[in-house]
Amino acid sequence: MSTNEKQGTSRRTFLKTTGQAAVATALVGAMVPRVHAAEDNTINVALVGCGGRGSGAAANALSVGNGPIKLKAMADVFDDRLKASYEGLKNEFGDKVDVPNDRKYIGFEAYKKAIDELKPGDVAIFATPPAFRWLHFTYAIEKNVNVFMEKPVTVDGPTSRRMFDLAEKSRQKNMKVGVGLMCRHCEARHELLDRIRSGEIGDILTMRAYRMSGPLASCFSDPKPANISELHYQIRRFHSFLWASGGCYSDFLIHNIDECCWMKGGWPVEAKACGGRHFRGDQIDQNFDSYSVEYTFDDGTKFFLEGRNIAGCHDEFASYAHGSRGSAIISTASHSPAKCRIFKSQVMDKANLVWAYPQPEKNPYQLEWNELIAAIRQDKPYHEVHRGVEASMVTSMGRMAAHTGQVVRWDDILNCEHEFAPNLDQLTLDGPAPLLANAEGKYPVPLPGINKRREYDVI
Ligand SMILES: NC(=O)c1ccc[n+]([C@@H]2O[C@H](COP(=O)([O-])OP(=O)(O)OC[C@H]3O[C@@H](n4cnc5c(N)ncnc54)[C@H](O)[C@@H]3O)[C@@H](O)[C@H]2O)c1
Repeated sequence: MSTNEKQGTSRRTFLKTTGQAAVATALVGAMVPRVHAAEDNTINVALVGCGGRGSGAAANALSVGNGPIKLKAMADVFDDRLKASYEGLKNEFGDKVDVPNDRKYIGFEAYKKAIDELKPGDVAIFATPPAFRWLHFTYAIEKNVNVFMEKPVTVDGPTSRRMFDLAEKSRQKNMKVGVGLMCRHCEARHELLDRIRSGEIGDILTMRAYRMSGPLASCFSDPKPANISELHYQIRRFHSFLWASGGCYSDFLIHNIDECCWMKGGWPVEAKACGGRHFRGDQIDQNFDSYSVEYTFDDGTKFFLEGRNIAGCHDEFASYAHGSRGSAIISTASHSPAKCRIFKSQVMDKANLVWAYPQPEKNPYQLEWNELIAAIRQDKPYHEVHRGVEASMVTSMGRMAAHTGQVVRWDDILNCEHEFAPNLDQLTLDGPAPLLANAEGKYPVPLPGINKRREYDVI
């Protein structure tokens, strides 16, 4: 794939510009006030996107033990999701959930109303499908509220560029922003990183990661039932649609990608990949069921990533690093406990074990919230958005390589003009969806080698 470096932003320019912006930021005064040191030190939280993770993040927020914290408003596009989330949280947290019916908001504008219930310096949680991140974040910046946003934070090139700009704006306003790549807060991985940095496995030569299981969440979908709108269906089953989630690749593989790049200490410059759908039947989603990606770092180091959602095959959910003097397990099975270990050879067995993080481990989903709220109370810098966008973009880079069949470089994805949901801020539940089905009810799917510059064609 050719790179439009002259007209677009090159990786080098981009890194230089964000570095300068960071310096400029240091010169800008605090604009989000340190309200929580005053007489009322309650931090209020608004939950936008009241599904599984949003409810979990709200529970983590309400479990932080360093001062009063309350859930004050909730927003979702679907009433049933909000109701179930409210009931679960109310049962568990009682008075800490202070959301009467007139602070429960439904619809595409609900996020604004929930954020309006906060005072500057409070926290909004964004746990909708990632397509909405930039839109909701824009409003949070306008209203000077801190944010916790779930991963991925972008799904394509144009929204990544937009989010880099928003990241800078929010940093200049002294907003504290957490991104739900919670493995970055895992104590075991932190100790492993220190050991890798101090040379315990030598230079990293190769990394490997696997997320292989049966079908997960809403990654595969049957045809839309006649009694619900197109947009309703696509949002309910957002893992099936690239505009909403980046598909199963972005949603499921970003954690492994992020933790490997973290251990390596940089982002890959290039991806090439294979992918396909072995068993589609009548299903209409846009996902492949298998992805095999080779990421390359600028020093030539390779990182191999395998994603598969097929039942009955070998299952594995783990990341590994291989160095010139030994090897390491970054994560063992899912996110936590990581059970990080170091081995003196490439054979990862007991005989070669030189270090293992002691068990049990603390829950990284809770740690990320403890650290965010502590930073808000102490007015310490806390800003994960740039890194979150970089992780999301590197994820999109691998996905685009598989979906187009081309080598995709950092600058290709950064400058890619294919915005999956360009009119996102104008959606209404009964209006048109960002993706339309053909007369047979089928959506465009990736065609590697045929569609070389876009992951799918819009009908
Ligand atoms: N960090 C992690 O380990 C982790 C784990 C699970 C999910 N996630 C992330 O959290 C996000 C949500 O995933 P989930 O599993 O909770 O999905 P979910 O379907 O359970 O929840 C999403 C909720 O957002 C609502 N919603 C959709 N569009 C909205 C909009 N425009 N405004 C308001 N509400 C809207 C939906 O109705 C739903 O209630 C995803 O980005 C996912 O990748 C992260």
